[in-house]
Amino acid sequence: PRSIYLSRHGESMYNVEGKIGGDAELSPRGMIYAQSLPGLIKKHIGDGPLEVWTSTLTRTIQTGSFLPKDFEQKRWKSLDELDAGVCDGMTYEEIEQKYPEDYDARDEDKFNYRYRGGESYRDVVVRLEPVIMELERQENILIIGHQAIIRCLYAYFMELPQEQLPYIKVPLHTLIRISPKAYGCEEERYHLPI
Ligand code: F6P
Repeated sequence: PRSIYLSRHGESMYNVEGKIGGDAELSPRGMIYAQSLPGLIKKHIGDGPLEVWTSTLTRTIQTGSFLPKDFEQKRWKSLDELDAGVCDGMTYEEIEQKYPEDYDARDEDKFNYRYRGGESYRDVVVRLEPVIMELERQENILIIGHQAIIRCLYAYFMELPQEQLPYIKVPLHTLIRISPKAYGCEEERYHLPI
């Protein structure tokens, strides 16, 4: 039966520092997740090959780098993290200090708020359309993505409303299996406590 597998990249150095965006490498903990991912997949999904889609950013590519060589890998620019524009590389505290109005506006309407020179969740939903169309035609794809991206994909399959989408909890180091059924989707989560 058809399933879609979603995971965020392993913890990155920016995650450790509380900075958003960027193109950081994995942290030591993130590397352990990357190294553990083949075993996690083997245990819960089996031996059959998966096709792996990552973004073009270092942290998702590193997370997939220990997977078996017969897993085909595809890089999608459309899977890159929500572009935070002028706020890229900042912490939330720095944003609150430097751009207090933006910070509040985002809090007011997180789905529609567009970073200066960057994107909104609504923008990301639009740019993910071709990825979702391709995903609907395929079987057994593993997507290694970013927090905002996984939220959008998850909300699409689980049919969650826009207001909830930017707040969906997508923890690090967790493999999510989504299995479309006649009505709605079933979900399982496999978390690695590292
Ligand atoms: O902090 C990790 C991260 O992926 C950032 O790169 C990104 O801006 C953020 O999460 C998205 O989450 P939120 O929309 O809740 O700020």
